[in-house]
Amino acid sequence: MSKRLQNKVAVITGGNSGIGLATAQLFVEQGARVAILGRDEKTLKAAAEGLGPAALAVQGDISRMEDLDRLYARTTEAFGKVDIVFANAGVVQLRTLEETDEALFDKLVSINFKGTYFTVQKALPHLNEKASIILNTSLAGSIGVPMTSAYAATKAAVRSLARSFAAELVGRGIRVNALSPGAIHTPIGARMDSPREVLMDYGAKMMARIPMKRLGAAEEVARAALFLASDESSYVLGAELTVDGGVTQL
Ligand SMILES: NC(=O)c1ccc[n+]([C@@H]2O[C@H](COP(=O)([O-])OP(=O)(O)OC[C@H]3O[C@@H](n4cnc5c(N)ncnc54)[C@H](OP(=O)(O)O)[C@@H]3O)[C@@H](O)[C@H]2O)c1
Repeated sequence: MSKRLQNKVAVITGGNSGIGLATAQLFVEQGARVAILGRDEKTLKAAAEGLGPAALAVQGDISRMEDLDRLYARTTEAFGKVDIVFANAGVVQLRTLEETDEALFDKLVSINFKGTYFTVQKALPHLNEKASIILNTSLAGSIGVPMTSAYAATKAAVRSLARSFAAELVGRGIRVNALSPGAIHTPIGARMDSPREVLMDYGAKMMARIPMKRLGAAEEVARAALFLASDESSYVLGAELTVDGGVTQL
């Protein structure tokens, strides 16, 4: 069987960890050349080594315009025009409404919302015809989850962007869709700075809400990203594909 992304060029923000890294691995297996962006040099280097010669690692921050310009300049220089953008990078912390301070609010908006917005805008001059853009949202953008209000709102905003961007870009033959993970086993949990008992309590409550009664694997989200990236989803536009064990649907 021929590879599903043969000769395609993909950009994956946050491709050095979790869902982004699993997606980069799958895209490379399926014949794509993949540029990954992240802030952390060490995990970027390890990811690039694991992905091999079909990958390019670019150090940068999606909330910084000059870093996004550099991402696309380096990608097109190395691989040519871009067929797939997976705007995946994002951050989260568990905080109640009372505990959410202005600094965390600004960080979440700056990375998850503004960063995703400009990841797509900066890609526009570099996209091939029939490009596919995938925005990573979250179950939290669709249902009320305690301790995630600011994060959830950034993801609901990103879900809205998938519709607006799709409407603007359909005339160019570019498809934009959202991919909404549920509770997925990735390093994102270890980045949360809440006390252990808060994390345990949050995890137990989340697990109780999942109809499939297990966490998802990053590879399960990557396979959905592959579907949205490839021509197999050629009539899917402005949609949000949930990969969440049924949390938002049952
Ligand atoms: N895991 C879940 O349960 C879950 C559920 C719903 C949605 N999501 C979403 O899925 C996406 C990926 O999360 P994950 O679970 O794979 O977590 P992860 O392993 O922590 O990965 C997050 C990635 O984003 C990158 N990143 C964060 N801020 C960045 C910035 N300012 N500029 C560039 N890169 C940045 C990180 O790299 P650096 O730290 O090196 O920058 C890392 O590669 C996120 O948008 C998250 O909100 C995850």
